[in-house]
Amino acid sequence: MLSIIVPTYNEKENLPILVKKLDESLKNIDFELIIVDDDSPDGTWRLADELKKDYPFMHVIRRIGKRDLATAVIEGFEKSKGSILAVMDADLQHPPEKIPHMLDKIKNGADIVVGSRYVKGGMIEKWSIVRKFYSKFATFLAHAFIPKSRATNDPLSGFFMIKRDVIKNIPLNPIGYKILLEILAKGKYKNLEEEPIKFKEREKGKSSLNAGVQVKYIMHLLRLAWEVKEIHRIIKFAFVGLIGVFVNLGVLWALTDLAKIYYLISAVFSIEVSIISNFLLNDIWTFKDRRSYGAKKWIERLIKFNLISSPAFPMQISVMGLLKEFFGMYYLLAALIGIFVVFVWNFFANSFWTWKN
Ligand code: GDD
Ligand code: MN
Repeated sequence: MLSIIVPTYNEKENLPILVKKLDESLKNIDFELIIVDDDSPDGTWRLADELKKDYPFMHVIRRIGKRDLATAVIEGFEKSKGSILAVMDADLQHPPEKIPHMLDKIKNGADIVVGSRYVKGGMIEKWSIVRKFYSKFATFLAHAFIPKSRATNDPLSGFFMIKRDVIKNIPLNPIGYKILLEILAKGKYKNLEEEPIKFKEREKGKSSLNAGVQVKYIMHLLRLAWEVKEIHRIIKFAFVGLIGVFVNLGVLWALTDLAKIYYLISAVFSIEVSIISNFLLNDIWTFKDRRSYGAKKWIERLIKFNLISSPAFPMQISVMGLLKEFFGMYYLLAALIGIFVVFVWNFFANSFWTWKN
């Protein structure tokens, strides 16, 4: 059985249309529809109760004193009976006629199917460039901090289907809007598929999205990143970088002061030695869980890491040369300032490419 969870807040005008469309699109499918309403001032819960008479597949949960989309969905999961769960918005922005296709994908082995705006065939109706940019940026942050969410181009979609097993015995604790992100970060799944959707413009009622929702998103994202230990990874990366700084400066000093090599030539060697030592430490420690095995893969990562680190050469050397020649700064201090510049770039470039697994 399929359980469709629909969170609602002031959707009186949309709900009857949605219910009718679901009824029509899911003719031969065994399903229940669970409306989770947060005591909407417009009385959506009352209307939903009345609709139940005509549509026996409906259940209504009215929550009093709570107001949060993601926890509403969780409550819907808890009260539902199906072995397959779907979540969609009530405002008709998500196409109900896609549900049978998504269900087919689940039946053919997918654990999660994401109704995706950002896949071939998917699209968004009438969004301004600015809104699109925000959405893409928010998606980028999700991909950056929750590597598992890279399985889909649209981890922030509010329209998806999962097997219940994906979240079985997994404590979900989302805040705000991004329930799918929580599931992608913590759930147990292997096969994720995307169903292209056209995200329609809202016709009736208004969106509850506001600045508060965006703040909640960032809080949720950071908390999730902590829970899946991605913050730990950034700290490890920084620690390895710190060791690299000592390696870099040590080799630089030995070549310049002991071997009497011109300091900018010494820098070329010291940078490469520190790149290699950083790679080794990151590979056996920071990104231990994201390595694929085999010598060939290892060399591939070493090359990627070198390519990503290569801006360090012009950067460190030009900053060093500049600070020493024009400002008379001590060359090791100049080197240190040069080294610092590349850090953030290095982390994310490596996280997205070298150890992207
Ligand atoms: N129970 C409950 N409680 N439902 C809520 C609440 C709440 O506090 N706030 C909103 N909803 C319901 C709405 O009634 C609607 O059915 C659905 O949640 C989505 O709310 P919208 O306000 O229409 O959100 P949106 O269109 O801005 O955002 C949607 O698209 C985003 C992608 O752009 C959602 O699907 C987001 O999850 C998604 O990230
Ligand atoms: Mn909406």
